[in-house]
Amino acid sequence: MSTQITEREEESSAETEAETESPHQRRRMDEKARRAAERDAMRERAEEEVRDAETTVGLKVFRYDPEVEGKKEPRFDQFTVPFHKGMTVLDALMYARDHYDSSLTFRHSCRQAVCGSDALFVNGRQRLGCKTQLADLDWPIRIEPLPHADVVKDLVVDMEHFYDQMEAVEPYFQTNEHPSGELEEQRQTRENREKVKMSTRCIWCSACMSSCNIAAGDNQYLGPAAINMAYRFAMDEREGEDMKQHRLNIIEQEHGVWRCQTQFSCTEVCPKDIPLTEHIQELKREAVKNNLKFW
Ligand code: FES
Repeated sequence: MSTQITEREEESSAETEAETESPHQRRRMDEKARRAAERDAMRERAEEEVRDAETTVGLKVFRYDPEVEGKKEPRFDQFTVPFHKGMTVLDALMYARDHYDSSLTFRHSCRQAVCGSDALFVNGRQRLGCKTQLADLDWPIRIEPLPHADVVKDLVVDMEHFYDQMEAVEPYFQTNEHPSGELEEQRQTRENREKVKMSTRCIWCSACMSSCNIAAGDNQYLGPAAINMAYRFAMDEREGEDMKQHRLNIIEQEHGVWRCQTQFSCTEVCPKDIPLTEHIQELKREAVKNNLKFW
């Protein structure tokens, strides 16, 4: 008897709730239900595709979300993804996000090694997700956020410090020597262009900074990317001698070029093949020449 009363009470309270629900709330609930159904369908499709696939690849992905209770403890999640020729780490991550867990968070944009937003720590090495072929890696693949940076969520790290270091070297063209005619171009010799060419390829991905032991131990060290940017402009003949002097003053500081211990880790991981260590060494030589005094 009492059970029947309770059930009747529950039903009527549910009816009252439904009646008092605003159209806005109802729309939200419907939207939530639609998304849940969509997620289930995607997951089912993924399971089917994995069953039918000739080859599948296992991913071990670092997960961490400081804002959600129960996800604050760092952990690894495993995903199985159907493999096809030409597939990159970024493709695999997108598959896992779209089919298994829409909360899986990582940065990406151009998907062609231009924007620099998807630098990750893949199988123990800094790499661009969109440039790294799954076929070139050992499986299962372990994917982590870049080391030596604070993790914001899952594979996303805080880039603020990296951008501060880049900003410190004034990474933009400055000159007091302007061409005479109004429509005249700021000319650069072919040889000078050749000299700075590789340094201009930097995409600010921060893979080099993450690989550098010195940067890991000295938070104020400018780091390979920023020094490369300083090189790019210090060696540009169009800026003139005054600016070159100004740029050498910046990189000569206590946490500048002299911190580099020529370990080459930055050069090894750079996805654009910039000879970063060489550029740092060349700036060291320039700094020495700059300080030589003849009496
Ligand atoms: Fe732009 Fe990889 S997504 S560099």
